Amino acid sequence: MTDSREGRATEEILFTVNGEPKKVRAYPMERLLDVLRLEFGLTGAKEGCGEGECGSCSVFIDGVLVNSCLVPALQAAGTSIVTIEGLADGETLHVLQEAFLECGGAQCGICTPGMILASVHLLNGKPDPTLEEIREGLSGNLCRCTGYSQILEAVAEAARRRSTA
Ligand code: FES
Ligand code: FES
Repeated sequence: MTDSREGRATEEILFTVNGEPKKVRAYPMERLLDVLRLEFGLTGAKEGCGEGECGSCSVFIDGVLVNSCLVPALQAAGTSIVTIEGLADGETLHVLQEAFLECGGAQCGICTPGMILASVHLLNGKPDPTLEEIREGLSGNLCRCTGYSQILEAVAEAARRRSTA
């Protein structure tokens, strides 16, 4: 179904976001990043570069880590999307969120949602990564503040906590 917004065609798009069914009218090429932030108020995903280079806009679509600045909203129709807001369990932070907080892995915070989601992806595949594997796993995510060492430490700490939980 289409209608016209300011003379241009929009589409009704349905998907699940953080476990909740959502419906939005958007231009087919409107970026998923903008729909999440502007239509749903999910401002965790950040726009760093807008070109698929920095990873700060990362979200999961059907379990696949993607840069939402490169995904047209229509392409995500019918999928299940998880953003950083969907990671905590109510008031209980995800182990990676806790570790980033405690290890100083977040400074200005622009890269942090993407770093954490990329770390979730990494630890799902490699529960006990080496430092080199953590570095490699986060190589698509850029940080201008931390010098990366606290981020690497946070991921290693989260892996340790998960293995002893
Ligand atoms: Fe999407 Fe940088 S804002 S990769
Ligand atoms: Fe500022 Fe990473 S904490 S860009």
